[in-house]
Amino acid sequence: MATTEQTTGTHPGSSHANDCTLLPDALLGHIRERFHYVEHCPYAGKRIFLENAGGSLTLKSVVQRTADIAAIPDNEHRDNPASQALSEIVNQGRKDLTTFFGASNGTLFGGETGTECLFRIIRTAALNAPAGGNMIACEIEHPATFDASAQWADRTQREWIRIPFDAHTGRVTATDYATHVRPDTRIATILHTSPITGQTMDIGAIAHQIRRIAPECFIIVDGIQHAPHGYLEIDDYDVDAYVVSLYKAFCRFNNGYAWLSERLNTIDHDRLLSKPKDAWELGSRDPSALAGASAVIDYLDWLGSHVTTAESRRERLIAAGTAIREHEQALIHWLLNGRNGLKGLTDYPQVRLIGEKDSPYREGVVSFEVQNMDAKQLVSRLGERGIRVHARSNDVFSGNILRPLSMDAVTRISVAHYNSITEIDTCLSVLSEILESA
Ligand SMILES: Cc1ncc(COP(=O)(O)O)c(C=O)c1O
Repeated sequence: MATTEQTTGTHPGSSHANDCTLLPDALLGHIRERFHYVEHCPYAGKRIFLENAGGSLTLKSVVQRTADIAAIPDNEHRDNPASQALSEIVNQGRKDLTTFFGASNGTLFGGETGTECLFRIIRTAALNAPAGGNMIACEIEHPATFDASAQWADRTQREWIRIPFDAHTGRVTATDYATHVRPDTRIATILHTSPITGQTMDIGAIAHQIRRIAPECFIIVDGIQHAPHGYLEIDDYDVDAYVVSLYKAFCRFNNGYAWLSERLNTIDHDRLLSKPKDAWELGSRDPSALAGASAVIDYLDWLGSHVTTAESRRERLIAAGTAIREHEQALIHWLLNGRNGLKGLTDYPQVRLIGEKDSPYREGVVSFEVQNMDAKQLVSRLGERGIRVHARSNDVFSGNILRPLSMDAVTRISVAHYNSITEIDTCLSVLSEILESA
């Protein structure tokens, strides 16, 4: 059962930080009731979950709905009621995901994971783009795009251009892309939000600069870390592909889902030849996976209905994303600045934060190094006291980001909209015990 959190705002049940508003207590209570394992781990016992960037909590409705549908043995495209019902579920899932993406055209497909979708799209784009030229990626990217871009530039004999990111802000900007993109840039990859620096990029502005210089460039976006922290606006980005992974957005582990533009969706790609030219799905769909996707979007719609009276599902999703963002921004503000006599992370001189303290671009993630303290050791000490966070080290996933920052490892605290200010207070209080005794 969820606890009701006490806040100190001027409006009943809400509280403000840095111009951002927490979700009202009563609504937060209802939100928390909708998730599994909010306050305890089935293996480790009571804990506060601040490891959302590794995968979010899972909605109860997702688990229930996917179990119900997974139990049905029938496949689509048969002449029986079960088969027809399953096709409706699959079609509804696709429709809901399209609304979630904010896409009024193009193609949607589900693949093994977000990484697999991105590799497949980058490979296909590289095999179709005119010979020569270059491919461009930024060092802030996850290997899901960075490594795919490096490999397919090499395999298609193109120059591979790496854009450095700004080590101070933990971001890459449209100006950075404009400096490196050339008229013969064939494929550009962009990370929407970094799971390590926590910073979000301006996709529309970056795409605009790329198109100004290389109008035919395929622009492929990794939106996996951004999706749970706001809303998606494919129609406004002017990109060719956008990928999400739903286990990061309140679902169980599920497929990665990709949206493709009408320019990219019909280029030569692996497909069953009898299918339409824009079909990218290979083989049978798992209706329970799409039922899970619909359950996530139903949830966001429900949340949106508490903060707007808008009649369209899309508008309610946008309202939900806006409320999610505000709530998380307030939590992050207090985590960094402290409150109620508790020191914030940035009050400790031995803490070195990735990104600027007051960055308006931070989405849910705070990564930091503590002088003379190993990140894994800090994670383990926080874990012993019931705070679940994660360390990112100089490895295949994080090395390209930590090396330019001259950091070996960082502790990452990552929040989601179901986290409460009381949980942040507890985290700060435990941190003060550990950091002040160190
Ligand atoms: C930005 C980003 N891209 C890609 C991935 C990989 O996603 P998946 O596990 O679905 O392949 C992650 C996972 O943490 C991520 O944060």
